Amino acid sequence: MKKVVCDNYEAACIFAADMFSKQLERKPKSVFGFATGGTPLGIYKELTKRAVAGSMDFSQSCAFNLDEYYPISRTHPQSFYHYMNKNLFSKVKFHSTDIPSGEATDIDTECKRYDAAIKASGGIDLQLLGIGTNGHIGFNEPSASYSLHTNFMRLTADTINANSRFFSSEETQPTEAISMGIGTIFAARSIILLATGAGKAQIVRKLFDAKLHTDVPACFLLLHPDVTLILDKEAAGA
Ligand code: F6R
Repeated sequence: MKKVVCDNYEAACIFAADMFSKQLERKPKSVFGFATGGTPLGIYKELTKRAVAGSMDFSQSCAFNLDEYYPISRTHPQSFYHYMNKNLFSKVKFHSTDIPSGEATDIDTECKRYDAAIKASGGIDLQLLGIGTNGHIGFNEPSASYSLHTNFMRLTADTINANSRFFSSEETQPTEAISMGIGTIFAARSIILLATGAGKAQIVRKLFDAKLHTDVPACFLLLHPDVTLILDKEAAGA
C-alpha cells in the first residue's frame, strides 16, 4: 500500500482527482468505482470542475457505486442514488452509471445482477473508497466472515451511529444495505483509499500496525497490489 500524506483535505482531494485524470488519459473507456459519505465530496467537486472546464471527459466511462442502503427509494434524500446524482452524475456525463438498487424486491437477484454488470463492463479500473471508523469499506462491517460478492449487509451500531448525522430526527435511518463484497472491491485493478480528519487517525494507525487484523475489513487492502492511501495530516496523525 502506497501512502500519501497531503497538507489538508483540499490537497488530498486534488491528489485523488489527479489520479482519476491520469486513469482517464490512459483509458477513456475506464470503469470507475465510487463511494459516498462525507469524505469524497471534495473529489466530486474537483472532478465536476475539471469536467465542466473540459479537462476531463467521462463520457466514455462507466461508473459503479460501492453500496446503497436497503430498503430505500431512489428519491429519498439520503439514498446513495440521490447523493451521486446531486454531487456528480447530474453534472458530469458518463457513458453509464449503476448503483445497487435499494428498491429491489429480490435482494439476491439484485446482487447477482450487480456483480454481472461490473463483470460485463470489463471490471473496475479505479475504485474510490472511504473508511469507517470501525475499518469498514463499502458496508463490509467487521465480522468473522466476509462476502466475496455483492451482498446484503447488516450495519453495525457504530456505523448507524456515525451515519446518523445525515438523517433528520423525522427520517427513519436504514440499518441494512446492499454492498460490493470484499472480493468485488479487491478485484478492482487500482484502489484509492481516502481518509481525512482527526476522527480517522485511530483506524489509520491500526491499518499500519503490521498485522492483518481480520476484524478490520480495510486490512484486506494490505494484500492488494495497487492501493494508494491518501491522507490529510490529521488522519495521518502528523
Ligand atoms: C460509502 C461507504 C462507506 C464510507 C465510510 C466513510 O459509500 O461505502 O464505507 O466510505 O463509511 O464515510 P465518511 O466518508 O462519511 O466518513
